[in-house]
Amino acid sequence: MKNSKESSKKGAGENAPSQVTVAPAADAATNLGALFLECLKDIYWAENALVKALPNMEANATDPSLKSSIKDHLAVTKNQVVRLETIFELLGQEAQGKKCEAMAGLILEGNGILEETHPGPVRDAGIIAASQKVEHYEIATYGTLLAFAKALGENDAAKLLQQTLAEEIEADKILTDVAIVSVNADAMELTGVAEKRM
Ligand SMILES: [Fe+2]
Repeated sequence: MKNSKESSKKGAGENAPSQVTVAPAADAATNLGALFLECLKDIYWAENALVKALPNMEANATDPSLKSSIKDHLAVTKNQVVRLETIFELLGQEAQGKKCEAMAGLILEGNGILEETHPGPVRDAGIIAASQKVEHYEIATYGTLLAFAKALGENDAAKLLQQTLAEEIEADKILTDVAIVSVNADAMELTGVAEKRM
């Protein structure tokens, strides 16, 4: 009893994480327009990184429907890069990327899943898992960008962002369908074989 009183006292004070107001960098955004531009640079870097990463995912996939969905999404992603360049142009800005740490991490994790799985349905299931994390990140990002564009009255940019958002939602849905219709069942069959062998 004594101990729990002491620990709750401690928890409320000295062990609590320090919270400080972070000093902004010299080029930090001062308004929503500047933040919008920063976020566009972030996703522009991310989409370009995906254009480079997707062929390796396709090469490592076995299921024909997964392979073709990744191939299709590569073409869609290349078009999304062009769409972002149009948005930069609409804003009177040069198209410029800024390293997206989140996407860099998701791609790294995807490559890790390849190393952790044997080729076939289990690796396919891992590729789908990694790809859906990417899609959900993109859905969150484009949802925010769309809201920013609308708030800023950037209606032409908003229309383009809406198109990309719809494509990312569709890509996520296709991955779910591929998992449910074939990959997960195939991976479970392998699990059954492995269990019989044991
Ligand atoms: Fe994308």
